Amino acid sequence: MTKKINRRQFIESSALAAGATMFAPTIIEALGIGTRTAMGYPAAQKPLSSYDRQVRELLARMTLEEKIGQMTQAEQDALKDVNDIQKYFLGSLLSGGGSDPKAGNSLAAWTDMCDGYQEHALKTRLRIPLLYGADAVHGHNNVLGAVMFPHNVGLGCTRNPKLVESAARVTAEEVRATGVNWAFAPCVTVPRDERWGRTYEGFGEAPELARTLGEAAVRGLQRDDLGDPLSVLACAKHFVGDGGTTIGTAGFANPEGKHLLDQGDTQLSEADLRKIHLQGYISTVKAGVGSIMPSYNSWNGVKVSGSRRLLTGILKQELGFEGFLISDYKAVNQITKDYKEAIGISINAGMDMVMVPTDYEQFFNLLLELVKEGKVPMARIDDAVTRILRVKFAMGLMNKSRSPLADRRLHKTFGSAKHRQVARECVRQSLVLLKNEKRTLPLSKKLARIHVGGKSADDIGNQCGGWTIEWQGKSGEVTPGGTTILKAIQNTVSPATKVTSSKDGSGAGGADVGIVVIGETPYAEGVGDRDDLALAAEDVTAINNMKQAGIPVVVVLFSGRPMIINDALGRCDAFVAAWLPGTEGQGVTDVLFGDYKPTGKLSFSWPRSMAQIPINVGDKNYDPLFKYGFGLTFA
Ligand code: BGC
Repeated sequence: MTKKINRRQFIESSALAAGATMFAPTIIEALGIGTRTAMGYPAAQKPLSSYDRQVRELLARMTLEEKIGQMTQAEQDALKDVNDIQKYFLGSLLSGGGSDPKAGNSLAAWTDMCDGYQEHALKTRLRIPLLYGADAVHGHNNVLGAVMFPHNVGLGCTRNPKLVESAARVTAEEVRATGVNWAFAPCVTVPRDERWGRTYEGFGEAPELARTLGEAAVRGLQRDDLGDPLSVLACAKHFVGDGGTTIGTAGFANPEGKHLLDQGDTQLSEADLRKIHLQGYISTVKAGVGSIMPSYNSWNGVKVSGSRRLLTGILKQELGFEGFLISDYKAVNQITKDYKEAIGISINAGMDMVMVPTDYEQFFNLLLELVKEGKVPMARIDDAVTRILRVKFAMGLMNKSRSPLADRRLHKTFGSAKHRQVARECVRQSLVLLKNEKRTLPLSKKLARIHVGGKSADDIGNQCGGWTIEWQGKSGEVTPGGTTILKAIQNTVSPATKVTSSKDGSGAGGADVGIVVIGETPYAEGVGDRDDLALAAEDVTAINNMKQAGIPVVVVLFSGRPMIINDALGRCDAFVAAWLPGTEGQGVTDVLFGDYKPTGKLSFSWPRSMAQIPINVGDKNYDPLFKYGFGLTFA
């Protein structure tokens, strides 16, 4: 199913129910990560509060309007007039999923767009540059031609922090190339229920994965120092408990009209919230993450984005977070029906910057009123702006001798073979081999004939999943420069091997082996909430057609989560869970044809049936089809 969903309309119409170890050393070393000491990581960057002397001087010169502007983040495609950047002293802009430059989607257009906006910010009295944010959640995934990494669900199966760090470094470099300086990543959610459409954004169901891999991603994005011109500001999200919502509490209905999980209520004791969902924040704060995004969800009936206990009490006071909080897209609007009151609640709870994202004048004016009426104390505004400016100083943005514009020399390596090589390594290590009867895998490269089937065998869009060029992603040729599985097979086998293909798996008779590539089609956020994770009928047909030819069958599954695969497993000889691997399909064939042994271990427990969901490691009577951590390899 290819869907084009307008994100703004979707959010506006739905959400407003108020109240409601085997790694290639050369690659890693080339990226400067092989130099770690035996003690592990070097100390995180210097504390953000060490910039407070400079921040205080600047703050003392700022008007209230200039301060509120710093706290305002507008969606670039909602700017009514580009001069509004100066008029409202905007501190930040974002491109949400699918928000491309007006000039089209290309590396050059993105760079010109960001530089153009930055030049407007430099025309303001205080010349404070913008933070420009984008959802670079698996590579710089909004930009055509960027290398797309596996989504976090796959990276979780690598269990390899160094590799995750190197992937984040590459992402940061591609983000920087366009002039964007802030990635809304990593997502350190701990998804506990696979019916949730955002399951693939998390590293896995166990908090240890969010803790270790989230930290690694922050170190990769921000490098050792936010002032490094190749680093970008990271954003741990979505604080907190987004992956722990209770079924039936979603803030809106999915396309089937069902209220499942997304943006729902996390009904959990504080001890469990801390044990499961807080872990990724403890480690990313320790690693020096400069921004954190509070979540849409509620915790025991209270919206997180309005919770002083969570934002100020736990995150800032207890964990000692010195960076700033950016609200999620229109999340503040959900706190209560009266928008002005909602702004007051959120800012007083500790929100520092608001992803408005469309009606920025209204937000600006309402917050101004709230301060003038004494409903939001000046001290809170000063604290919020201090936190934002700390980050801007740490990033070198306030350094007059350094330009905040893009370094276009980085265009040379954007989407380069070197970058793709890192993603390919991530793909290899993320694959989980679930079944391998009679040593079906690895395949010989010299077989006489291979038949390739399944709707996703030659579909880069399905391979990349959601958050790829468009918010929801889309099937088909969504981005150039990648390798589909069919193409990767053709690239791998000997010149004498005949590769035939058919989407429905028919015509396989006489082949030595059949490879069927099936699975989910792209979705993002609540649009992907499902209460049935059965394989699609066309996928079952493709497997059956292959099997009827009487040949060994290898199934490769693209999915953002475990699916119900019992029947399919019974009908094939080998089964590989490939998750959403991104553009580098060659990483899949590297394993299928035995150049690399599979090492991936499940980041989620694999359920036997829908009735078993939610199922998580450590549950009483834990009896999944495959346990958390399962993964076969070759002899
Ligand atoms: C998502 C965030 C994302 C933001 C900006 C929201 O809908 O929940 O993960 O960073 O949009 O695109």
